[in-house]
Amino acid sequence: MSKGLLAVAIFFAVLAFPLIFNATSAVTGSTKSHPALKQGKGEKCVKDTDWMRRNHMNLLKHTRDDSVRGGIPAGESGLAGCVSCHPKRGEFCDSCHSFVGASPECWQCHHYPV
Ligand code: HEC
Ligand code: HEC
Ligand code: HEC
Repeated sequence: MSKGLLAVAIFFAVLAFPLIFNATSAVTGSTKSHPALKQGKGEKCVKDTDWMRRNHMNLLKHTRDDSVRGGIPAGESGLAGCVSCHPKRGEFCDSCHSFVGASPECWQCHHYPV
């Protein structure tokens, strides 16, 4: 290969790098914190989306305690609330959980459609 051709080849490799990187990172997940999820219903979640991403497990445990011990109706922050806007566990909760390697042990007692 002549020097000129080599320079051209390198030039295009550099040019294509962001494209190739983006295409492969969709598979490796290197720039994303989670896989593509089915959009929830309604305008917004029971709390800010970012907060929910990090804290939904704590919210659910608080709701459980309030509901079971305090007799406060679970409402939208209970599991039936989640189901009303995220109707399928498989295309929302589970697709993220399997990505991060979490497997909440709730579904042996609670019904959440897969
Ligand atoms: C051994 C059975 C069992 C397991 C496992 C279990 N629960 Fe429950 N949970 C119950 C029972 C019984 C109640 C009270 C009856 C009700 O309200 O459904 C309850 C109530 C709740 C409530 C309040 C009512 C509602 O439906 O929202 C929440 C929230 C809840 N559980 C969340 C969870 C979460 C999250 C997990 C997993 C980390 C979990 N539970 C695991 C049995 C269980
Ligand atoms: C009134 C409808 C509604 C209810 C009820 C609801 N959500 Fe959401 N949720 C949304 C919307 C809308 C979004 C933001 C768009 C999206 O990412 O799906 C969202 C986002 C989220 C996210 C962040 C997703 C991401 O992209 O990182 C999590 C986690 C979540 N919800 C969990 C829950 C849990 C757990 C419950 C039950 C306690 C619940 N949601 C109840 C509508 C709802
Ligand atoms: C954007 C990613 C994401 C989505 C969407 C998501 N989760 Fe989670 N969930 C996590 C992560 C991360 C953890 C923490 C795993 C750990 O700490 O080991 C977790 C943990 C949990 C736990 C606590 C498990 C335990 O035993 O302590 C519960 C309960 C839970 N999620 C319920 C849900 C429900 C119900 C939905 C759907 C309405 C949902 N999650 C959607 C990422 C997600």
